[in-house]
Amino acid sequence: MLLELRDVHVHYGKIEALKGVSLQVDEGEIVSLIGGNGAGKTTTLKTISGLRSCSSGSVYFEGADIGSMPGHRRVLAGIGQAPEGRGIFPGMSVHENLLMGAYARKDDHSKELAEAYELFPRLAERRTQAAGTMSGGEQQMLAIGRALLSKPKVLLLDEPSMGLAPMLVQQIFSIIEEINRRGTTILLVEQNAQQALRLAHRAYVLETGRIVRSAPASELLDDPQVRAAYLGGDVGDAGGAPGASGGVALGKTAKGGSEEEASEAGEAGAANGAKDA
Ligand SMILES: Nc1ncnc2c1ncn2[C@@H]1O[C@H](COP(=O)(O)OP(=O)(O)OP(=O)(O)O)[C@@H](O)[C@H]1O
Ligand SMILES: [Mg+2]
Repeated sequence: MLLELRDVHVHYGKIEALKGVSLQVDEGEIVSLIGGNGAGKTTTLKTISGLRSCSSGSVYFEGADIGSMPGHRRVLAGIGQAPEGRGIFPGMSVHENLLMGAYARKDDHSKELAEAYELFPRLAERRTQAAGTMSGGEQQMLAIGRALLSKPKVLLLDEPSMGLAPMLVQQIFSIIEEINRRGTTILLVEQNAQQALRLAHRAYVLETGRIVRSAPASELLDDPQVRAAYLGGDVGDAGGAPGASGGVALGKTAKGGSEEEASEAGEAGAANGAKDA
């Protein structure tokens, strides 16, 4: 087992955002975590990367309890994260942003740098451009590319398809698949459940801080309840093959509230600060 959460509870003040989450990610897998707004998906990833601590329960990585390990040590240990809202450094160039992903490493990172540019040719074309002037989709690529520079064993992705045009959504998902094929384990948080379930080996469904389903991803794609709640419903589509639709999300695509985005923006800054420390 590469990564395991056991009965994790996380609070924001009095609000209990995670109410006993247990999940496991095996080496080589793509595991997807799906759920609606406020379900606790981002909180789960932050708990793994060390930006939030558990009020109770444990996080294990490669068999060791990492509950008290600071975030930057977790990056070194092999937990890479491309945060929701991207968290890139806007005033720095694309190239400098990529290098920031490797700041904690003491070994040679030229292989991962070359790989990031290979996976995202757009970044190679724009390596001297200020990251803040990149388009939303390009910034998303940059965030993923930067996470790869830490040479992660597991890559935590928080809504990589958020706000992207359908064509770019396809592209991002196939790059994620390629990253996995090259040996990186992936924990993928998505509201674009259709795409996430098609990509993943296994998936968990999170509802208001609790895991309510855990199954092979293909099984969840076929599940009427999951389809109704997260895949845009079954109305008029009861007999349809779930995998046969065009590939663009049928259900919740974009983010709901701007209020939530605002709170996340603050956290992204804090996250960067924490990583820099
Ligand atoms: N910094 C914070 N302070 C207080 N409450 C928070 C904070 N961050 C998250 N929460 C609350 O914790 C719960 C889980 O939030 P979280 O961001 O993990 O949800 P999510 O599943 O990622 O949602 P979304 O799909 O909208 O990104 C929500 O009810 C949210 O309001
Ligand atoms: Mg979130």
